[in-house]
Amino acid sequence: MSRTVRAPVEADHARVLAVLDSWWGGFAGADGTRQRAALLPRLYFQHFTDTSRIVEDDGALVAFLIGFLSPARPDEAYVHFVGVDPARQGQGLGRDLYEWFFALARGRGRTVVRAITSAGNAGSHAFHTRMGFVAQPGPRQFEGRPVQPDYDGPGLDRVAFVRHLEA
Ligand SMILES: CC(C)(COP(=O)(O)OP(=O)(O)OC[C@H]1O[C@@H](n2cnc3c(N)ncnc32)[C@H](O)[C@@H]1OP(=O)(O)O)[C@@H](O)C(=O)NCCC(=O)NCCS
Repeated sequence: MSRTVRAPVEADHARVLAVLDSWWGGFAGADGTRQRAALLPRLYFQHFTDTSRIVEDDGALVAFLIGFLSPARPDEAYVHFVGVDPARQGQGLGRDLYEWFFALARGRGRTVVRAITSAGNAGSHAFHTRMGFVAQPGPRQFEGRPVQPDYDGPGLDRVAFVRHLEA
């Protein structure tokens, strides 16, 4: 098996959109499908490629990370979206992608990484916690996780994570 890790190109946009529903296990139903697709417009595959990664095994997409260095907050970097093929989950791919991103961010002078996830995504919460993120306190809890109500618009509650990078 030959693994490739590379920057995304525009042609990856459709390939990533095509796997979102199955990789997220249909999370949040039709509404989740719409939200996920809307979160990944083509522009991420045009303008954020140097801070993002595509992982392929023998040419098949197995993981991706879309991230960027904040243009407005010079200390911060942001992981916008990450996904791993369910057949490859739990094997350290998500960790490898995050550690790559942390090193990149650190090397470019960033000391803070932020990410958000849906309030109901317990797996994502567990993963981010293992990766050293802390969920910011919120006015509400969902299944014991602090939630920012209406964070991304009416009814779009999120957990907001922050991770400080060691020097
Ligand atoms: C969340 C996700 C990216 C994690 O990737 P992964 O490759 O499976 O994670 P790793 O194998 O690198 O795990 C890293 C650590 O997080 C833990 N972890 C990962 N997923 C977990 C889960 N669902 N529940 C509990 N712990 C989890 C692992 O046990 C591991 O801990 P360890 O260091 O103690 O061994 C992946 O499961 C995924 O794509 N899920 C569906 C999409 C999604 O929810 N994306 C994130 C929201 S945008």
